[in-house]
Amino acid sequence: MKQDPRFPNLFITDHPLIQHKLSHMRAKDTSTRTFRDLLKEITLLMGYEITRDLPLTTRTIETPLMTIDAPVIAGRKLAIVPILRAGIGMSDGLLDLVPSARVGHIGVFRDPETHQPVEYLVRLPDTVERTFILCDPMVATGNSAVHAVDVLKKRGVTDEQIIFLALVAAPEGITVFQKAHPGVKIYCASLDSHLNDHAYIVPGLGDAGDRIFGTK
Ligand code: URA
Repeated sequence: MKQDPRFPNLFITDHPLIQHKLSHMRAKDTSTRTFRDLLKEITLLMGYEITRDLPLTTRTIETPLMTIDAPVIAGRKLAIVPILRAGIGMSDGLLDLVPSARVGHIGVFRDPETHQPVEYLVRLPDTVERTFILCDPMVATGNSAVHAVDVLKKRGVTDEQIIFLALVAAPEGITVFQKAHPGVKIYCASLDSHLNDHAYIVPGLGDAGDRIFGTK
């Protein structure tokens, strides 16, 4: 896991398999189907990394040979919350990893003029004692990411209960996110160069939602 001295709460998963798959996703002639499959594969690999610190407890089980106190994941329940619509491309991979997780949804679109998030849907499971994994492949301006964390915090969820999972981030977006929510950890596979005049990440991979769903 790599870090950038400017962003103490940003963790960059620099595993070679993740980087290799991301390069394929960036290529403009990669098909919708391959793009979607790669995003799911990367999310699985990133999910493996971000769940590394989940606390363990033990449960007594009987193997065919003897009784042991075997390690199992402790206490806290997980919720996966994709930010619609591109976040759905990541929640599938996470659900394969943690099939018993609850799934919430936060629907936000970016006003094309102001680039500000406009909320149109929020559905969440109960928040007590739950870890929330918010996912959205692109953290560009950071406004949607900040908004999604605001939604959780308004329901009493604390910084420590939230993990933000992205694929590609822009320094501008991480700056905004970190200023608004300095206590929330954010993971991505790449911190790219900058945003262009249309708030697209450069070099990026284009519009993640369009590439996942094959829309224009
Ligand atoms: N959203 C995307 O899908 N791509 C970008 O580059 C920026 C925001």
